[in-house]
Amino acid sequence: MPEYTIEWDAENECIIYIDQTLLPGRHERMRCTNIDDLARAIRRLEVRGAPALGIAGAMGVALAAVRSREQDLKRFFDEVGRAGALLRGTRPTAVNLAWGIDRVLRKAALATSVDEAKAIAVAEANAVAEEDELTCRRLGGFGEELFPARCTVLTHCNAGALACRCWGTALGTIRSAIAAGKDVRVIACETRPLNQGSRLTCWELLRDGVDVTLIPDSSAAYLMRKGMIDLVVVGADRITNDAVFNKIGTYMHAVAAHHHGIPFYVAAPVSTFDLARKEADVVVEERDRSELTHCGEQRLAPDGVGVLNYAFDATPLDLVDAIVTEIGVLRPPYTESFRLVGMDEETRS
Ligand code: MRU
Repeated sequence: MPEYTIEWDAENECIIYIDQTLLPGRHERMRCTNIDDLARAIRRLEVRGAPALGIAGAMGVALAAVRSREQDLKRFFDEVGRAGALLRGTRPTAVNLAWGIDRVLRKAALATSVDEAKAIAVAEANAVAEEDELTCRRLGGFGEELFPARCTVLTHCNAGALACRCWGTALGTIRSAIAAGKDVRVIACETRPLNQGSRLTCWELLRDGVDVTLIPDSSAAYLMRKGMIDLVVVGADRITNDAVFNKIGTYMHAVAAHHHGIPFYVAAPVSTFDLARKEADVVVEERDRSELTHCGEQRLAPDGVGVLNYAFDATPLDLVDAIVTEIGVLRPPYTESFRLVGMDEETRS
């Protein structure tokens, strides 16, 4: 059985997750028993990555439900709803967080007693987690068909097992290509300022015996110019009807790939789509200045300097050659192919 990034501990009625801020130095699993700790863990990126945030949101609602002492159904739902609102505010850009929270709240709302609502919330949160694994493996199967038999792939941030329950989205396509017998080498961008690429992507790929080479973000375009990259594959935090939101730096890789005629692919589950919105409607998370001015105790910038620290950027769809999902590979014109996503959402609801 693969190790899960985040899971529900039924015996102790709590959430267990790998603390990603400690990697690659320490690989430790944490136990979370209350909503305030979970909100803090999400803000600190102990749990991160769009699908893993979806699971965290879903399990957070389940946690609030099982820990509630309320017996009155209305007051119980008020309390659980407040927990959902708290979690939702922790990271505004990654739509999966709100998706996971809403999915469990909606299902639990069908209950006619507090005990039933608790049981439904836990079952639905576990369903979100189990489906994520199936989704990643299915998506990986579609994505690997885009890979030549021998290729070097550039990826940014971490859209791997650590960003999901296991397997991954962008890294899931790479894992599936390798499982299909393809010779795949990975170039991992370090992903400043929090280094999800060097700390997490390199760690999980090396652990699986994948050939991975670390580069500074700033050298990606030069490697493309030298013919050292065959394709780019990244994950996504939200896909609107005109853009793909992903870790800051993704857009510059898309521009560079387009300039060099290199395919630029996005791998994301249907739950990451937010087609009722456009780029301008989305709040892009801005993070603390200390992420740029300090490395631990070490000062990296002079006191008083202005800092702009967007956590994500938006890549317009005309720079995206394909979006790999669990229902297939979507290609331009996206106005047409996005209809499949709408149809899939309708059949599930
Ligand atoms: O700030 P993070 O580390 O949560 O950002 C994560 C990313 O941008 C990932 O690329 C994205 O969530 C895709 S996860 C499969």
